[in-house]
Amino acid sequence: MFGNNGHAPWREILLHSFQSLFLITSPSFLYTMGSILRAPPKVTAAEAVLPGNGMLSAEDAPKGPSSKLFTPLKIGNGTLTLSHRVVLAPLTRNRGVPLNPNATLSAPNRTWYPDALVTEYYTQRTTPGGLLITEGLPPSLESNGMPGVPGLWCAEQVAGWKAVVAAVHAKGGYIYAQLWNAGRASIPQHTGMPTISAAATPYEGDEVYPYPPPGSSEQVRYASFPPTELSHAGIGKQIADYVNAAKLAVQECGFDGVELHGGNGYLPEQFLSSNINTRTDDYGGTPEKTLSFCAGSHGSAC
Ligand SMILES: Cc1cc2nc3c(=O)[nH]c(=O)nc-3n(C[C@H](O)[C@H](O)[C@H](O)COP(=O)(O)O)c2cc1C
Repeated sequence: MFGNNGHAPWREILLHSFQSLFLITSPSFLYTMGSILRAPPKVTAAEAVLPGNGMLSAEDAPKGPSSKLFTPLKIGNGTLTLSHRVVLAPLTRNRGVPLNPNATLSAPNRTWYPDALVTEYYTQRTTPGGLLITEGLPPSLESNGMPGVPGLWCAEQVAGWKAVVAAVHAKGGYIYAQLWNAGRASIPQHTGMPTISAAATPYEGDEVYPYPPPGSSEQVRYASFPPTELSHAGIGKQIADYVNAAKLAVQECGFDGVELHGGNGYLPEQFLSSNINTRTDDYGGTPEKTLSFCAGSHGSAC
């Protein structure tokens, strides 16, 4: 989906974002989808490098400047041609600026936006014709899994990301926005609202949220703050938030594409995981229903 060059219609976000999820950044999502739909083919390491299956052994593959890494690649259903295949993976940097500089411990800041430092970070990594994928951008307050992450729902965030995109484009690079909904991988002290997930399934074990809550020096266990099961209206809101952020990304900020983060145990994967998603309604219980949230969010974002 490339809103800025006029080549691709909105419906291509579906194909594009799935392509990105599959090929670039979320192997766990790919694995989960694959294991639901069909059993993975059994290929041994030795077979994988045999002549005739289209793959070259590491020994035979061209090296250095003649490597395929440095050849063009069409993405986004052929609407964008990268000059090479070295892609910056999405990396959370926690470098956002607090929107509320007067935050107090009792009313902490919960929204961050990107400033010149973030622009510098992405510009430094830009190459002509190369693709960057942003860190995961929460599309709402409740979806945010960490402090310091610049999201994409308010005017200050749009202005900041617009500057990032302009700087990357000025160097000849391309940049996609990754949208990230942490679901139950957050805590209410951080977002200011109940934690959400596919079901009210708490974390198992003693894993702790990486940042102490505002005003505390003690880390808290995720399990101490079980999520609330999303209602159908709540699911609709999460999807609407993705759609809103995708529109802001393409139409306002000028991003070349959008990716919905589908792996690493965050909300879409929480819907795909049978140990978390215990629903028996339209969003769980069968492989098709288990996929509904992902299909719905991608389809709607188109
Ligand atoms: C500090 C850090 C932050 C990351 N942030 C994100 C993120 O925001 N979104 C995402 O999809 N992956 C994120 N990842 C995962 C990376 O993009 C990458 O997939 C992971 O490091 C595995 O890459 P590798 O298989 O090349 O080692 C992060 C990884 C690290 C180490």
